[in-house]
Amino acid sequence: MKIAVVGTGYVGLVTGTCFAETGNDVICVDIDAAKVEKMRNGEVPIYEPDLDVLFERNRRQGRLKFTTDLKSAVDHAEIIFLALPTPPGADGSADLRFILGVADDLSGMINHYTVVVDKSTVPVGTAEQVHSRLAAKLDENLFDVVSNPEFLREGVAVDDFLKPDRVVIGTNSTKAEEVMRRLYEPFVRSGNPIIFMDIRSAEMTKYAANSYLATRISFMNEIANLCEGLGADVDAVRKGMGSDSRIGKRFLFPGVGYGGSCFPKDVQALARTAGQNDYDFQILNAVMAVNDRQRLRIADKIEAYYGDDLAGKTIALWGLAFKPNTDDIREAPALYTIDRLLAAGATVRAYDPEAMNNVEALYGNKVTFCDDQYEALDGADALAIVTEWSAFRTPDFDRMKTALNQSVIFDGRNLYDLRRMVEAGFYYDSIGRSTVK
Ligand SMILES: NC(=O)c1ccc[n+]([C@@H]2O[C@H](COP(=O)([O-])OP(=O)(O)OC[C@H]3O[C@@H](n4cnc5c(N)ncnc54)[C@H](O)[C@@H]3O)[C@@H](O)[C@H]2O)c1
Repeated sequence: MKIAVVGTGYVGLVTGTCFAETGNDVICVDIDAAKVEKMRNGEVPIYEPDLDVLFERNRRQGRLKFTTDLKSAVDHAEIIFLALPTPPGADGSADLRFILGVADDLSGMINHYTVVVDKSTVPVGTAEQVHSRLAAKLDENLFDVVSNPEFLREGVAVDDFLKPDRVVIGTNSTKAEEVMRRLYEPFVRSGNPIIFMDIRSAEMTKYAANSYLATRISFMNEIANLCEGLGADVDAVRKGMGSDSRIGKRFLFPGVGYGGSCFPKDVQALARTAGQNDYDFQILNAVMAVNDRQRLRIADKIEAYYGDDLAGKTIALWGLAFKPNTDDIREAPALYTIDRLLAAGATVRAYDPEAMNNVEALYGNKVTFCDDQYEALDGADALAIVTEWSAFRTPDFDRMKTALNQSVIFDGRNLYDLRRMVEAGFYYDSIGRSTVK
């Protein structure tokens, strides 16, 4: 099939590449000319595991092309995906400027039947707005608007896209339904469902899913904080809870709060949508308040440990990305930690396998960026772990003790066994477990 993908960020580029991988002809469009030039030259502009191999194969075979010229992509396409940003506006609701702007552009360009697909996360009613923008200049027989929210997780995006748990399609057109079914069938050969529904329900499904996951995280973070006060171990509690099939084992890990480009903005946007409909969505308000507090949990622990003596101390930070296997630092808890430490007069030495360039672009020389995880410890008074990259899971504890001024670890991801830390002789403060001294 002939596809255009407008917006080549974390979602658009993975979408375009994976559709090319199943044999479709894909043109990716972006307004960022420098990015398009890089992609034309074979450079993948983001870090996402396995993306580079698929990108290169499909680019070489001519199934994956890049342009800044929307019109040429529209002329080519039977299906146009909108994978554009929907950042929070000043009042917390999703800013639809990019989506509606492109819809206006498309209304002057489409000249054959085209399915226009909202892949961005957009509030209920957005597809109707896109429809009216297109209908302002186009015959209604020339297009259908479909909602196809994306559920991929950064860090495993390619795998999620190629083997989705489900595909959600919102449409009221049998013609568009057929097009979407043909497109997605190769991705669900093992039997996972393509779920067709009305457009508003599809738009709502994405917000409901993300808000539920964020709720689960905030709930576990509150359980963890209470465990600390009560002398219980949240890891044991988590296993005990998660073995109940009604609860399930996944997504129950406490930590330093959720971050990234999706949960914070999507929870906020759904709460805002509720408010606009005179509904006070109390759980979401609590989820956001809990997360605001939790993302400072490690900084709070460090401040409590040093009291007024934090100024002049050096803290090593392992992990900057909002989660492992990505270079994405949008709303990353590490940034909140850095801000608090710098404000308290501490020095920060940071290491992350993929995200350092992005953080350096924000902080410059206010933070020292190190070439490897052990270098970050050199002369530091303590280590704070914020992102659970695999390389941090079984480190050389002897080497760490030698490099650090004091054997002190604040672990926001519960990477280490408590008994092991007693043996290794660390002061070790983690989330929802006793502090080892
Ligand atoms: N990142 C995720 O994990 C994820 C997962 C599911 C859904 N989503 C949703 O998908 C959407 C896109 O997210 P993202 O993380 O890929 O965003 P992103 O910021 O990484 O990428 C957006 C891209 O769109 C381009 N762009 C902006 N205006 C444009 C225009 N007028 N024409 C062409 N290109 C334009 C930008 O240059 C950028 O390359 C958002 O609604 C997001 O909520 C994201």
